[in-house]
Amino acid sequence: MAFASVVLKRTLSHSAVMSSAIKQVTIIGSGLMGAGIAQVAAQTGHNVTMVDIDGAAVEKAQKRIGASIQRVAKKKFKEDESAAETFIKEAMERLTTSTNAAESVTSADLVVEAIVENLDVKKKLFGELDKVAPEHTIFASNTSSLAISSIAEATNRKDRFGGLHFFNPVPVMKLLEVVRIPETSQATYEAMCAWGKAMGKATVECKDTPGFIVNRLLVPYLFEAIRMLERGDASARDIDTAMKLGAGYPMGPFELADYVGLDTASFIVNGWAKGDPENPLFGSSPIVEQKVAEGKLGVKSGEGFYVYNKSK
Ligand code: CAA
Ligand code: NAD
Repeated sequence: MAFASVVLKRTLSHSAVMSSAIKQVTIIGSGLMGAGIAQVAAQTGHNVTMVDIDGAAVEKAQKRIGASIQRVAKKKFKEDESAAETFIKEAMERLTTSTNAAESVTSADLVVEAIVENLDVKKKLFGELDKVAPEHTIFASNTSSLAISSIAEATNRKDRFGGLHFFNPVPVMKLLEVVRIPETSQATYEAMCAWGKAMGKATVECKDTPGFIVNRLLVPYLFEAIRMLERGDASARDIDTAMKLGAGYPMGPFELADYVGLDTASFIVNGWAKGDPENPLFGSSPIVEQKVAEGKLGVKSGEGFYVYNKSK
């Protein structure tokens, strides 16, 4: 018993040290996911730099964060307007923005990358950041589908590299998949888990397999729904209604595909198909490819399977 309690104390104090070590966080990519991760990090007391190569994307993200944090504060401080205002003000003060990734990592404890789902682009970014980030900085990718070990190849810090896979919308979804590659050190893994908890998320441990846990199940389901539509088995609207009312899902598969982004959905299955072309679960969809080619990316562009308010 005494031994167990010493072990527990050591484990706790180690985690506490690692978690307190992650104070300064840089989020690269300020799209759907980067903005959400940056928001939650700022809300939970971290100093955050949110970066994008596109200045307009940063501005859009700031607006989205402004609206989302209002909803969070309203829910958290129902009766107390002034506490809600303070919460928002303090969180926003902890959030700075940049369009220069290299400059933004020089004092980071953790870098979370949430840029376009493209291996070469992610490797190029991490290769550059590896040269300028401090020795202790942990690198993590929020990739939906790429192998973390392939991305980590671009760096000399594989022991300080892992996957931190959040879910959209980040302020609402409670899960964080923590992905370790064989080289990820135990200290890095524990620091990532502790940070996830500090972000208010429940963590699950994942191996570096395609789609980790959630997407390995969810993405083939989305594409099977799209194949039903292509075969003419049912309309998108009816499939969505069926899965919401018949299976209790909060969104139907077409609503969810639009919400995730059809470009991201396409990158995911096409990437998997390259590695495993015979797997019928990784088949692409002509409708999705057509919509992506037309710039109909879902909610973020104003149209996908459905049409949305263009200001979204
Ligand atoms: N920011 C802050 N709060 C938000 C929010 C946001 N962006 N979006 C919704 N909320 C909050 C609202 O304030 C509301 O809170 P209360 O009910 O306490 O007032 C609550 O969430 C519900 O919101 P709404 O009433 O507006 O809408 P809803 O009930 O339809 O829920 C939803 C919206 C949470 C998005 C829900 O439809 C849902 O869970 N959809 C499924 C999402 C999902 O499956 N995500 C995973 C996608 S896969 C992925 O992310 C991985 C990948 O790699 C592709
Ligand atoms: P998005 O298209 O909304 O945003 C991507 C952002 O990255 C854009 O603003 C773009 O300008 C920026 N960017 C591209 N290259 C860059 C670079 N070299 N440096 C800095 N910024 C760059 O995409 P998203 O949906 O936020 O997805 C981002 C990542 O998160 C992807 O890897 C995706 O697979 C993953 N992901 C997406 C979801 C989802 O539901 N959309 C969920 C979990 C994980």
